[in-house]
Amino acid sequence: MVPSSTQLLGSAPLEIETAAQCLKAGGLVAFPTETVYGLGADAENPQALAKLYAVKGRPTHHPVIVHLASVAQLPQWAVDIPEAAWVLAKAFWPGPLTLILKRSRRVPDAVTGGQDTVGIRVPDHPVALALLSAFGGGVAAPSANRFGRLSPTTAQHVLADLGGDVEAILDGGPCQVGVESTIVAFREGQPIILRPGIITENQIQQALQGGAVASSAPLPSQASTVSRAPGTLASHYAPRTPLRLFSGQELQQQFADVQAKPCGGGERIGVMALRKASASPAFFCETWIEMPDTPEEYARLLYATLRDLDALGLSSIWVERVPADTPWAAVADRLARAAFVG
Ligand code: TXA
Ligand code: MG
Repeated sequence: MVPSSTQLLGSAPLEIETAAQCLKAGGLVAFPTETVYGLGADAENPQALAKLYAVKGRPTHHPVIVHLASVAQLPQWAVDIPEAAWVLAKAFWPGPLTLILKRSRRVPDAVTGGQDTVGIRVPDHPVALALLSAFGGGVAAPSANRFGRLSPTTAQHVLADLGGDVEAILDGGPCQVGVESTIVAFREGQPIILRPGIITENQIQQALQGGAVASSAPLPSQASTVSRAPGTLASHYAPRTPLRLFSGQELQQQFADVQAKPCGGGERIGVMALRKASASPAFFCETWIEMPDTPEEYARLLYATLRDLDALGLSSIWVERVPADTPWAAVADRLARAAFVG
């Protein structure tokens, strides 16, 4: 069942048609979205879903998001849709928002891990939308990385992670958002943020004209390792190199401490900071990356930068903490998970 070679496709109409046919035949197709690349399978084909879980290395009871071409398809996939969900769907779709809703009978158990809810999203990417339209149905797609690793934001990342294991990869260039969608569930009609994303709590509140929004994304220290929502697993989104988070001041202290050790204690460090490196960086600091100072720009570069650092064989990655205010919530959340040692 596992394909021996992966077709690399661009984003021309014929290539998108080829990818849609591949999905119809039960194949796996990685495709770009505005957030990260997804690994797609026909949401109504249990064999394709089994293959999806196997390639991803993901436990079968973890649910995956169903991607649709338009909000008009929503009632086919979800029932008892709360008013607030309609408001958010109309305000943010196509866009980086996933709604957790009561599933319709059309949704197979394999998509939801047996839960009675389903995650749905209409992505804001021309290639994703063209693929979904050509396919016609729902496309189940987790991020196109192996379970627990960094999400891919380019077709090359997908090829490096899953090449040979998927039938096709559609290349739509680098993802513009860079971190996974905001996930919102509803309890008695009230929205709860399960995973922060680039659509913030404030934006959701505004769309609901000031309605209350709860946030239940657990901090890594609280997250259960048996959670059913992998986006909330403590050690998710992790590079292989140990990653540590410091305030700007702690970072300076850390440099002084290592510099005081003979041969820097053998450390080889890469730094991701919101500031420039000092004029003469320490010898054990192999690379210093000055990250953008807006959350949108930072998020766009986050995973690609961590992948680059991971490839250097460093002993550790030191990251300067980002601000604690809400626009930074998604970046702060992914960094905390990347830093967590379970
Ligand atoms: O931006 C995104 O959301 C990307 C792109 C490809 O759309 N997808 C993505 O999928 O991040 P994945 O599978 O890596 O993360 C989806 C998250 C998981 O944490 C999953 O548990 C949660 O959505 N999820 C899906 N269905 C759910 C449900 N019924 N109840 C609770 N959480 C659910
Ligand atoms: Mg993922």
